[in-house]
Amino acid sequence: MLDVAIVGGCGHVGLPLGIALADSGLGVLLYDLDRKAVDCVNAGNLPNAEPGAAEALARVRSEGRLEASTDPSGISGCGAVIVVVGTPIDEHGNPDVEAVPRSVSSIAAELRDGQLLVLRSTVYPGVTAMVERLVERLGKAIDVAFCPERIAEGRAMSELHELPQVVSSRSARGRARAAELFGHLTNDVVHLEPEEAELAKLFTNTWRYIRFAIANQFYMIANDFGLDFERVRAAIRHNYPRAADLPGAGFAAGPCLLKDTMQLAAFNNNLFTLGHAAMMVNEGLPLYLVSRLERRYELANMTVGLLGMAFKAESDDIRSSLAYKMNRILRFKSREVLCTDPYVTSDPHLVPLKSVLERADLLVITAPHASYADLRVSVPVVDVWNLLGRGVRV
Ligand SMILES: NC(=O)c1ccc[n+]([C@@H]2O[C@H](COP(=O)([O-])OP(=O)(O)OC[C@H]3O[C@@H](n4cnc5c(N)ncnc54)[C@H](O)[C@@H]3O)[C@@H](O)[C@H]2O)c1
Repeated sequence: MLDVAIVGGCGHVGLPLGIALADSGLGVLLYDLDRKAVDCVNAGNLPNAEPGAAEALARVRSEGRLEASTDPSGISGCGAVIVVVGTPIDEHGNPDVEAVPRSVSSIAAELRDGQLLVLRSTVYPGVTAMVERLVERLGKAIDVAFCPERIAEGRAMSELHELPQVVSSRSARGRARAAELFGHLTNDVVHLEPEEAELAKLFTNTWRYIRFAIANQFYMIANDFGLDFERVRAAIRHNYPRAADLPGAGFAAGPCLLKDTMQLAAFNNNLFTLGHAAMMVNEGLPLYLVSRLERRYELANMTVGLLGMAFKAESDDIRSSLAYKMNRILRFKSREVLCTDPYVTSDPHLVPLKSVLERADLLVITAPHASYADLRVSVPVVDVWNLLGRGVRV
């Protein structure tokens, strides 16, 4: 009998969590609809890159503490069930409030009295209460908790232990059981009411998204004035703690930050001026860069190379990557676009770095992978991250 089942257990968040819980001594079942990902995990491999996870996966598998399955029947034998399925917004930016309740309904036959049901996905505020009502309708005596995941991809295996765990449940027993479960990862547990915890997660991501937006707006202001934002930023931050956290410019993308800012906007009746402004700035950065490039180059006669298609450095995740938006714009404006990435394996259109360097007239760093910092090239390079240390003016 296993201790914990994770619904969505082979995803970007579910798998590191499952491995970490198994590594803490618990028996873990990863339930996932994605057969390819399940087979991959059961063969001892990671469907998505996550530093440190492969070694830990090998360890917990060899000790028989973790298994993956597309069959939900093992869930009924677990004391705790954690749901961490995706909660994307639709193509118009609307949240799908049913995503988590739907996944709970799909395993309803496996839920039994006495279990702890932990929602770990990032949800629209009120979804925990929806699930509580669903559990009540099912007639099950189950403690429902909402304990949001706050790791950043690429740092999951350390952050699962280093970050405090936000734990919420309507009942004292639910709170105690959720705190005990996450106590396997850390002693630093923060207690909130479910609605507070739902907002806490959305505020966390939205805050980060808005901070990136102000940096990107500053970048555009300085650049339009003919100045290098990185020189100004370095001066502002030098021995000045109140500005030490001013981020650099760069693509603020990926599956979470914009999505969660839009969930918060929807929750506030779409009255979220700062959130929407942040979206316009961050999503506008590729368009801004291309409009600047058009002033200096005959793009229509040029081959442009895009370096890095993942949504962030050292990642293989292309979900909502602004590198692809850059690709779309430049394919319309230039003669040819060649894309490369050392980590991404899911896109057959990518070409080796060598071909890009041989053929491109202009390079744009679209994901700041550390390996690009050593590039020695003679063609112009657009480098908003200042990875090459040559400034960020375009
Ligand atoms: N990716 C991140 O860095 C991150 C960080 C913190 C929080 N989150 C949140 O965590 C949640 C999951 O994100 P993710 O990036 O891991 O998504 P993901 O798409 O990588 O993983 C979700 C997994 O759930 C599986 N799944 C979907 N419906 C299912 C069902 N009904 N039954 C069983 N399995 C099902 C999918 O096959 C997939 O493997 C989201 O709410 C996201 O906002 C993500």
